[in-house]
Amino acid sequence: MNIVSMENITFRYAEVPVLRNMDLEIREEEYVLLTGENGSGKSTLLKLLLGELQPQDGRVQMFGKDPGRVFSAGEVGYVPQNSISHNQNFPATVEEIMMTGLYRQIGRFRLPGRIHRECVTQTLEELGMERFLKKRIGELSGGQQQRIMLARAVAGNPKLLVLDEPTAGVDAQSVKEFYRLLNELNQKRKVTILLVTHGNISECAGAHRVLKMEEGRISN
Ligand SMILES: Nc1ncnc2c1ncn2[C@@H]1O[C@H](COP(=O)(O)OP(=O)(O)OP(=O)(O)O)[C@@H](O)[C@H]1O
Ligand SMILES: [Mg+2]
Repeated sequence: MNIVSMENITFRYAEVPVLRNMDLEIREEEYVLLTGENGSGKSTLLKLLLGELQPQDGRVQMFGKDPGRVFSAGEVGYVPQNSISHNQNFPATVEEIMMTGLYRQIGRFRLPGRIHRECVTQTLEELGMERFLKKRIGELSGGQQQRIMLARAVAGNPKLLVLDEPTAGVDAQSVKEFYRLLNELNQKRKVTILLVTHGNISECAGAHRVLKMEEGRISN
């Protein structure tokens, strides 16, 4: 089954189209890298997938459904580009932010229970971040915040992970650990992954395909 299907997509913010008759298909359990120059339209493509933007032409489907509905159903874990810059004065702890990644499991209007707290602790441990559990997010360094955003995206056990330059500002050792975790999620938990990166592609062990955004389309 195709998890992601974009057919003949044209999208423009103003006059000039960013995406031009673009196609993309990602099958279940694939691990796909998306590269391309600054301003080539990578983040725009991700926003179309998440239903944050609508194309002027063409059709986007996720899991065979409307994109926005899939995202709100919690089947997608998303780490937006520069997600940390919004956190500085946000009055929430790491634990509380992690819980917002679990809302599908917890259910609307219900309180997190022991099982959710364990899930949060375990995911933080996997990323070596458990000591920050009770800290306010703004007290963490930029790279540490970015790692929390990654932990949040994977904690909800999504079927698809969409990551927009998730390792920007993260130190080399942590980048290595993060890619090891992604590879494991893909191989063991069969999570489908779409990762935008400017980094060294050879670090992304286990990735199946490398795509490049160029002149509004995707080339292999
Ligand atoms: N909200 C917006 N309004 C108008 N133009 C926008 C907006 N967001 C992006 N653009 C333009 O659309 C084009 C594609 O932007 P996009 O952010 O998708 O690129 P990108 O490939 O993610 O770049 P980067 O590698 O720098 O993250 C750019 O020319 C950008 O200036
Ligand atoms: Mg971008």
